Amino acid sequence: MVLLRTKHELREWTADKAGRPRILVPTMGALHAGHTSLMDLAVKRAADGDVLATIFVNPTQFGPNEDFDAYPRQLKADLELCSDHGVTAVFAPEADEMYFNDTTISVQESRLSHRLCGASRPGHFDGVCTIVTKLFILTQPTAVIFGEKDFQQLAVIRRMVRDLDFPVEVFGGTTVRESDGLAMSSRNAYLSDEERAAAPIIEKTLREVAAGIASDRYSSPQTARTALAEGIASERLARIDYVDVVDASTLETLETFEGAIPRLVAAVFFGKTRLIDNVGLPEGRD
Ligand code: PAJ
Repeated sequence: MVLLRTKHELREWTADKAGRPRILVPTMGALHAGHTSLMDLAVKRAADGDVLATIFVNPTQFGPNEDFDAYPRQLKADLELCSDHGVTAVFAPEADEMYFNDTTISVQESRLSHRLCGASRPGHFDGVCTIVTKLFILTQPTAVIFGEKDFQQLAVIRRMVRDLDFPVEVFGGTTVRESDGLAMSSRNAYLSDEERAAAPIIEKTLREVAAGIASDRYSSPQTARTALAEGIASERLARIDYVDVVDASTLETLETFEGAIPRLVAAVFFGKTRLIDNVGLPEGRD
């Protein structure tokens, strides 16, 4: 496995590997089993091609009061994991390698990205779209893999690839969870013991309500939304940012279940830590 620290090193590496399938797995590091599952998927899909992981804590997707400075950085451990999971090369640039101080160009999506997490984190998806565009241009992948854990991010990137004609195939990887159902996230480390014990309420409620929709327990998406809100709020430490039942590709709030592929989504604060999760309907219904 090679470590590439500069755009120049990356360009030389991509030139050297020209013509081969190349699967990109973008990350911000602090890698866990959720990230490595995407690498495993990439290795399987790449066949005799290359898997390129990127590790970069992207400043432009963090709001002014968010955890950019506190975000965990552990390059050495991350590189070991990448190597163990069959990654061919890791691009891990310094922040000043990626952005000019006086940058005036960014990539913005103006519908999907304004809902859900975008409403609570203005500018977040502009930062994501901009860095992912830069990574596409720099790494020229044939395919890219994102986790369904960040369902809105996956939908926004699919839209960006469609609308801007990026010649990149987009794959989603299923969410990897702790044994009690909590979706793995580097932000779980911020939870106190009490908050950590309470956090699985998110997945438990999402799944219960998804099963309820599959068995026609709810007359409308609105009643399912109310059940989501009530289920999560039954946990004293949970403070809901949003819950919704949305169309899986447009992310619009569903008005009817008729002909729809519903996705149940939630963002919930435990103390200062904001956790997100989502599920589709149980097997056979989504
Ligand atoms: P990061 O949060 O590090 O996540 C990198 C990738 O891992 C994303 O595609 C995310 O959806 C996926 N992932 C995280 N937790 C997961 C889990 N429990 N199961 C499966 N996949 C999981 O997402 C970002 O970084 C950034 O926004 C990035 C795309 C790198 C742009 O800066």
